[in-house]
Amino acid sequence: MLKSHVIADRDFIVAPLDRRVFGTFVEHLGRCVYGGIYEPGHPTADANGFRGDVLELTRELGVTIVRYPGGNFVSGYDWEDGVGPKEERPVRLDLAWGSTETNQFGTNEFMDWCKAAEIEPMFAVNLGTRGPAEAQNFLEYCNHPSGTYYSDLRRSHGYEEPHDIKFWCLGNEMDGPWQTGAKTAQEYGRIAQETAKMMRWSSDGLELAACGSSHLDMPSYAAWEYTVLDHCFEQVDYISLHQYFRNDADDIAKYLTAIDHLNSFIVEVAAIADAVAAKRRSTKRIMLSLDEWNVWYKAHHGEHLRQPGWPEAPKLLEEIYNFEDALVIGGALMTMMNNADRVKTGCLAQLVNAIAPIMTETGGPAWRQTIFHPFAQASRYGRGNVLRAKVATDSFSAGGRDGLPLLVTSIVDDPETGETSIFALNRSLTERMELTVELRGMGERTLRAAHELHDSDLKAINSKDAPERVAPVAHPAAAIQGTTLTATLKPLSWNVFATASA
Ligand code: AHR
Repeated sequence: MLKSHVIADRDFIVAPLDRRVFGTFVEHLGRCVYGGIYEPGHPTADANGFRGDVLELTRELGVTIVRYPGGNFVSGYDWEDGVGPKEERPVRLDLAWGSTETNQFGTNEFMDWCKAAEIEPMFAVNLGTRGPAEAQNFLEYCNHPSGTYYSDLRRSHGYEEPHDIKFWCLGNEMDGPWQTGAKTAQEYGRIAQETAKMMRWSSDGLELAACGSSHLDMPSYAAWEYTVLDHCFEQVDYISLHQYFRNDADDIAKYLTAIDHLNSFIVEVAAIADAVAAKRRSTKRIMLSLDEWNVWYKAHHGEHLRQPGWPEAPKLLEEIYNFEDALVIGGALMTMMNNADRVKTGCLAQLVNAIAPIMTETGGPAWRQTIFHPFAQASRYGRGNVLRAKVATDSFSAGGRDGLPLLVTSIVDDPETGETSIFALNRSLTERMELTVELRGMGERTLRAAHELHDSDLKAINSKDAPERVAPVAHPAAAIQGTTLTATLKPLSWNVFATASA
């Protein structure tokens, strides 16, 4: 039996956790919008055409913020197409996904959906085929109260009050050759700077994110971040990170190092942003927006990306997640939490059907994919300050990396409620782990809840016919005595312990 020992003290804090790390993403892509969140005529749909079953699962998932409307889609999107009377909206070709876009769902419908789901919106503007002027017009449409062309246009569409959207992404993955209107770092940095400047002049209190690299292996990675921020450092608050994890080699030990790669990515991008600050003798700190992340490799080619004939809402990117994917998602969530001082938003891409924790059948039921569970638990229990834990655990080597901790853990403490949560992933492929966690500075504890997510079959999935095949159970081996939690963690298991003052 392996042994791991963790010490955490209420006074040793990484940072308060920004709840917006529990965000997701809704793009006009495949069946994410149409047949996902929006399906007029579905038995559970409301008067707006919002699927009630999806809304319910979205609430259960604990989503705090949702990015919209793309993604690759936004880089060819004319926002004007998606507002006003539905019967007058144009039908367009969506070059990003080879689909027909009917525009029956747009900005105002998304805002109505966010209200219904009690979620903060995060909007992206098109800096692919369009530029600063259109971004500013769009912002004026959304946020200006009244008395101007675009604000009155919104009012004429039935939205008297401004939407007051705070968080804006300045384009999407502008470094990617697959992006409509891709740019060099110099080109994008300048456009991001001017767009941010105009948006700030137009509306107060905005939070603006510049595009970072599309993933860690982009050839331009790191130089891209430096160049872009060198232009727009003063105008933006965040640099984005996007990362999709893969298990191409079907090697679970290597696959689990996705967690360590994500940690390096976060640490490196923060360092690059700070280098730009140092060059300017600035104390400003650019924060990180991990506004696209997930597992995505099984539905990453051929008909999963594009289908002939410009179909409407085709089945694209419908990745089926298995148990090992859920372990990676849990590990990534802990990595985000443990970097709470720099990572302020996160968007699991996406919410429904397209690389998503929620699956639906058009006209039929909705169910939870395996990755739903660690996300829902992290959002439910991840409240308060992330503590700087001291971890003693065995290590392993995989994927060309040595000295990797077998135990990955994150501890989040809410001094207001007195609740402290412990998340723990045992990365050993074969060994059980005896875990002890000493919780200091918070008095005697009691165990409020304890969950285990484990399956002897790494490839086990949830489906319409077996929607609960992979689901958390009450932890079979956990207890608290005084201030110390002890638990036995199964090999390859995700575990959550919620403690409270005794
Ligand atoms: O989330 C799917 C796609 O992945 C997004 O549209 C794009 O930004 C990324 O490459």
